[in-house]
Amino acid sequence: MAKPFYITTAIHYVNDVPHIGHMYENIAADVIARHRRRMGDDVFFLTGTDEHGQKVERSAAKEGILPIELADRVVAEHHRLWKTLNISNDDFIRTTEGRHRIGVYELIKRIQERMPDDIYLGSHSGWYCQSEETFIPDNQVKDKKDESGHPVEQTTETNYFFKLSRYTEPLLRHYRDNPGFVYPQTRLNEVVAFVEQGLKDLSISRTSVKWGIPFPGNPDHVIYVWMDALTNYISALGFGEGQHARFDQYWPADIHLVGKDIVRFHAVYWPAFLMSAGLPLPKRVVGHGWWLRDNQKISKSLGNIVRPNEIIDRFGTDPFRYFVMRDMVFGQDQNYSDESFITRYNGDLAKGLGNALSRTLKMAETYFEGRTPPVPCNDNELKTTAEQIIPEYLKAMDELAFHRALESAWRLVSAVDRYIVTREPWKHFKEKGADEALSRVLWNCLEALRIVCVMIAPVMPATASNALTRIGDGPEAIGSDALQWGRLANGATLRGGDGLFPVIDAAKYLEKNMDEITPPLETTQAASPDVAKISIDQFMQTDLRVGEVRSAERVPKSKKLIRMMIFTGDGERQIVAGIGTKYTPEELVGRKVIIVANLQPATLMGVESNGMVLAASIDGEPSLLSVDPSVPAGTKVK
Ligand code: MSP
Repeated sequence: MAKPFYITTAIHYVNDVPHIGHMYENIAADVIARHRRRMGDDVFFLTGTDEHGQKVERSAAKEGILPIELADRVVAEHHRLWKTLNISNDDFIRTTEGRHRIGVYELIKRIQERMPDDIYLGSHSGWYCQSEETFIPDNQVKDKKDESGHPVEQTTETNYFFKLSRYTEPLLRHYRDNPGFVYPQTRLNEVVAFVEQGLKDLSISRTSVKWGIPFPGNPDHVIYVWMDALTNYISALGFGEGQHARFDQYWPADIHLVGKDIVRFHAVYWPAFLMSAGLPLPKRVVGHGWWLRDNQKISKSLGNIVRPNEIIDRFGTDPFRYFVMRDMVFGQDQNYSDESFITRYNGDLAKGLGNALSRTLKMAETYFEGRTPPVPCNDNELKTTAEQIIPEYLKAMDELAFHRALESAWRLVSAVDRYIVTREPWKHFKEKGADEALSRVLWNCLEALRIVCVMIAPVMPATASNALTRIGDGPEAIGSDALQWGRLANGATLRGGDGLFPVIDAAKYLEKNMDEITPPLETTQAASPDVAKISIDQFMQTDLRVGEVRSAERVPKSKKLIRMMIFTGDGERQIVAGIGTKYTPEELVGRKVIIVANLQPATLMGVESNGMVLAASIDGEPSLLSVDPSVPAGTKVK
């Protein structure tokens, strides 16, 4: 019997339509789901929407509509987008559905029955962050802001609490006994460090919010949005509804795939609730990195949303899926830019795979009358390369190292290119005609490319089917047994057709499309030249000053960010700048720079930046603006 494999994404908030970060998460889960399916597992893949809470309540009120109307509208967008992106989810859960509420009530009931004092009524005062809908510990609050810069306010509430403190030791034991519970290791270390500090009880109800699931037995309270949301993973399986068939089959989940920002909720709160209710814990919580724009997390609240819809419309779903899976090292952060998309598109797809396929097909069609060559070959360097690459590819897929898996597929593409160049089939055909030797050469190329198509199938499903049909194999032949040398039939019909990925003129495309596709800020609008001009008074509002770098160091885990202490005449201030690819900290110390002194503080990778260092950017390479070293620090620039 097929092994059940249950994979979930986070359920996404409905106060906005998805951006690239959400798209990435669903594509990555889809790649895993498709891969497991073709390896023979009985996959259940769940995604959905998190629809309760203050943010949705407020966004709806702003529009003068009911929260459910807003949710319905955004959910429709989700469905459209997941269809466009070819996401093969088996179910879609909304936290406003009846089946979800039943699951939440069942979870609370089991906790109350099994551990009667795990849920109690208590009162709590502290810094509350409305944006995050959570209390923030005192040591994470500075100038009435949390670490991400969201405003916080002193609040007292009487709430239901969950005795999270009781689970400090059981959780630490669980991490020790199951070191793969949180992946990658860095995320596990963070979770362990957090729990080792000792857990505080968690407030699990709100009276200030109306849009939510009423607390059982006390409808003045609604259930805390995270307790509500996390339960989706079991409510979607019918937990609490008399019949548990799906729950019995698929729970515990094999992978909860979530962004690194919410690993804690999944690896601390969620297992604690489940332990309390006497339910099995998920096998793995996997935290992926963030898509960044200018080194900041892409998000609605930062206003740097990237919705690559134009890219998808223009180039299709598969190139976009390929790009996000290839460009991001799974688990780490990655900066998004249209340039990097175009570079990968032209390099890997148009000139790489697309070109190898079309030249091979063209030769095979011409020399062998539109059919796969009649003589196969079982002893050649392409076979050796393929057989070396396939286990590496499978290992990378198991380790969720998708960039590495794709890299290995492209090693086979390059091997085909080299093989064609050294064998010169066109010369052979001219001199000796379509003989057995030529048949072997072209059959080898087609066979290697068939294997590449099988490798890329989870990431580019439509491209793989299309290319496999052209090569003369069935579009469905993507199972694990298809990753074996020698499967390509002889004499099957080839269907060359147009190139899969036409090369595009990158400079022209970017010049024409960049601003429309990826406005750096949500508020940036194309303005007519007259409107774009500013008055001298407006310019004077920007406080530009000369500063002297007194110390500098790299921000941990960042390739680009450098944290500097800059003297501005009357004191030092901390500024973080994305200049680390060009400058070393050592060469910055003592240098005079121009800074914007009156910018609102921002937090970059957890480090506060008070101002900005000016630099010109040449193809993304920063070049610092400087002044004559004799100008004293603090001098105004105008
Ligand atoms: N609703 C909660 C999750 C509840 S799960 C029980 C939530 N929603 S979210 O819409 O803010 O985020 C959904 C997922 O998208 C999260 O896993 C989050 O980490 C991910 N991303 C949001 N912005 C992201 C990037 N910029 N980059 C990559 N993924 C990020 O959190």
